[in-house]
Amino acid sequence: MGDSSAVPQAVRTAWQNHIERYSGLPILDLCRAAGRQLIVQLPFPAAGYAPALRQELMMALGPGGEAWQVEVTWHVPAATPRAGFTPLPGIAHVVAIASGKGGVGKSTVAVNLAAALHREGARVGILDADIYGPSQGRLLGFNGRATSSDGRHLDPVVRHGIASMSIAYLVERDTAMIWRGPMVTQALQQMLHDTAWGELDYLLIDLPPGTGDIQLTLAQRVPLSGAVGITTPQELALDDARRAMAMFGQVAVPLLGIVENMAFHVCPRCGLEEDLFGHGGGARLARELGIPLLGQLPLVKRIQELSEQGLPMVLAEPQDSATAAYLDIARRMAGMLAGAPAHALPEIIISDD
Ligand SMILES: Nc1ncnc2c1ncn2[C@@H]1O[C@H](COP(=O)(O)OP(=O)(O)OP(=O)(O)O)[C@@H](O)[C@H]1O
Ligand SMILES: [Mg+2]
Repeated sequence: MGDSSAVPQAVRTAWQNHIERYSGLPILDLCRAAGRQLIVQLPFPAAGYAPALRQELMMALGPGGEAWQVEVTWHVPAATPRAGFTPLPGIAHVVAIASGKGGVGKSTVAVNLAAALHREGARVGILDADIYGPSQGRLLGFNGRATSSDGRHLDPVVRHGIASMSIAYLVERDTAMIWRGPMVTQALQQMLHDTAWGELDYLLIDLPPGTGDIQLTLAQRVPLSGAVGITTPQELALDDARRAMAMFGQVAVPLLGIVENMAFHVCPRCGLEEDLFGHGGGARLARELGIPLLGQLPLVKRIQELSEQGLPMVLAEPQDSATAAYLDIARRMAGMLAGAPAHALPEIIISDD
């Protein structure tokens, strides 16, 4: 890969300024030629995006471009683990979905990002790390119990093509509520390590709000490829999100970017867009941390209704504009994981207050 020397000069000239938008990588770095074939291999799942990119690249070849067959494929390379960490067997990337403030929509974003990655062709799992308030069972439409086929490992629950594990699949609703710190972190470690996840491109971890034991355990003991911060636009949520991201930054977990949820409301009757919770907060936070704003999601009643039914928006409403936003964010996130050094994260200075 990246052997663009084999790519003929005419093609190199046509594509020389073309940067792939999600990974930030030059197209020529992703391209090789085989006879009349130009094969562009993206480092993230792209079943839905590949045809559009292919079209774009063919256009860019200009007159005479028909002489070429352009093929856009993809392959998710496994993460290079942080120093001192061993990758989880079979899992290419573990990504934490975090927020400071509760109720900003982490779990909803996590399940829809999982659905988006699945739609793009990836093998995806979700670990519900919210021991006191698990919600992935509800979001995925499962209220049963996890089983064990071999008597040693937990079988992940697979719904809508997404593998998941949650404390709600394992113990009675009130049992975990009274657990203290060490029990909670032990439960988390067991769900992570004792689940037979199989081969996954991405394992998303849906975190509880805040910066407690669970977040610390994850940051310090789990081979995370990165963390995504979820916030709503208002200042209060931003302060908390800043703190949550700082915690990951301190232990050198790459901060992949910020998602601003409930960024605006579209009036279902007149189509007018309104900022309910302020404006531009997510972008400000991203700028301050020196990381990308991965995207903004609208406040839409349908997202909440579908959640109640155990259906991710991305799968239930494939053509909706909110779905398009989730897909875009998922590609950006996956692109960041594989991206150009320009994507690399600046060092952030964190104070404890
Ligand atoms: N973009 C959205 N539009 C409308 N409703 C949303 C949106 N995102 C999330 N919600 C709703 O907001 C509520 C909170 O979402 P969710 O449970 O995902 O938040 P959370 O950050 O995971 O909360 P907690 O901190 O309790 O874990 C849910 O009722 C969910 O359906
Ligand atoms: Mg949640």
